[in-house]
Amino acid sequence: MTDLRAAGERAAALVAAHLAGVPDGPVWQPVPDGERAWLSGQELPADGRPLADLLADVRAHVLPHPMGNGHPRFFGWVNSPPNPAGVLVEPLAAALNPSCAGGDHAGPHLERAVVRWLAELTGFPHPPGGGLLTSGASMATIVCLAAARQRAARADGWDAREEGLAGRPPFVLYVTEEGHSCLHKAAQLLGLGARNVRTVPVDAAYRMDVAALRAMVAEDLTAGRRPFCVAGSAGTVNSGAVDPLDAIADVAAEHGLWFHVDGAYGALGVLAEGAAPHYAGLDRADSLALDPHKWLGVPVGCGCALLRDPGAARAAFSLVPSYLVDENAGDLGWLAEYGPEQTRPFRALKTWATLSSLGRSGVVRLVERTTGLARTLAEMVERAPDFELLAPVVTSITAFRHTPARSGDLDGLNRAIPFAVQARGNAFLTGTRLGGRDALRACFLHPDTTQRDLEILLDEIRVAAKGL
Ligand SMILES: Cc1ncc(COP(=O)(O)O)c(C=O)c1O
Repeated sequence: MTDLRAAGERAAALVAAHLAGVPDGPVWQPVPDGERAWLSGQELPADGRPLADLLADVRAHVLPHPMGNGHPRFFGWVNSPPNPAGVLVEPLAAALNPSCAGGDHAGPHLERAVVRWLAELTGFPHPPGGGLLTSGASMATIVCLAAARQRAARADGWDAREEGLAGRPPFVLYVTEEGHSCLHKAAQLLGLGARNVRTVPVDAAYRMDVAALRAMVAEDLTAGRRPFCVAGSAGTVNSGAVDPLDAIADVAAEHGLWFHVDGAYGALGVLAEGAAPHYAGLDRADSLALDPHKWLGVPVGCGCALLRDPGAARAAFSLVPSYLVDENAGDLGWLAEYGPEQTRPFRALKTWATLSSLGRSGVVRLVERTTGLARTLAEMVERAPDFELLAPVVTSITAFRHTPARSGDLDGLNRAIPFAVQARGNAFLTGTRLGGRDALRACFLHPDTTQRDLEILLDEIRVAAKGL
């Protein structure tokens, strides 16, 4: 224990020094060959090593090779810097090391509170027990779609868990081409079949075309298929678009579909001034997936599934063998009854710490600031003759492309730009395909990004493109 105290103090100093130094270093650099070999090729030590030696290795070989998402000029995918309060409590969660499957200890009780807080922040209805923390939104999506699948089967008088899907009319899920891949993975994993996931077209702003959705549902019903769920997005990963949730909710209500919303990245965008109308209808969803490890900066990994009817998730997952029966569990039972994980980590502590340290006003400020940066970049792009804006900005993502010449292989150029920018180390952005074109996208999540960083980003793109 003396060893742990001394090493712990050293680790705390390393954490503080690392976080303080991040803005001064390169955003990202490739891991040198020798280091890659050290990291991936080492042998299991025959005998145990002192804690101080382990810290020395971490300092020499791990901390110098970050992914880059701690840096204010990291604009790739949807990866935030860690909130300091979340970092602070991670070792304490590990020291307690509970399984938050259930039981009467701090973890499950705190999880109930943070899930409620997340529902309150996003304006999602929250009955007691209406949600749980997960590894991320991919797992939250599995929870929600499994609940949807079981509810649809029960409504049709059978039990998907008991019987499997064979011999039944295919369950059909509706997503747009902008819907996240985790929806497809969940559908495949749940045995729905990739061919039963319908791609609903989008409008010019990359939002679901609800008239097309309505027509597709009607067509599937006529063909004897079983439409069971529509998944809208509250913040797509490509452009941050928010689907017309209220109109989707109408279609879901007309046809008894489960209405799921993927708000993994963007659900908190509802807190930005003037954003609420874009999110109208979110509170009519049956389920909402959102990721505290995205916009909030809760250290990875922490997702959340919110459910209007917690009983639907329990019906899809509860399986309590005799060795897990808990007479004192109360009406809600154990959290493990609502999802696939049995042993569950203490995700609530870092989420509680992050939310407590920000407070509601801090979350609103973060969302306002980062959405403002996305709008500012869009304005800069529109003013610049060598850039083109590709989508309206609704959340904190700007989708655009570099157009130094009017013709030529602009797709090829924009496909090559992200890595060329990343390799220079001064900014980090990633690419995508949007509306059939190769695009650049910058996602703002860092509380310390400045307008000057946006200028640097555009200059970095120009310089990197010239070198291609
Ligand atoms: C819109 C959206 N949905 C779902 C996901 C999947 O979330 P996770 O990676 O936490 O499983 C992401 C991840 O970036 C996302 O941006």
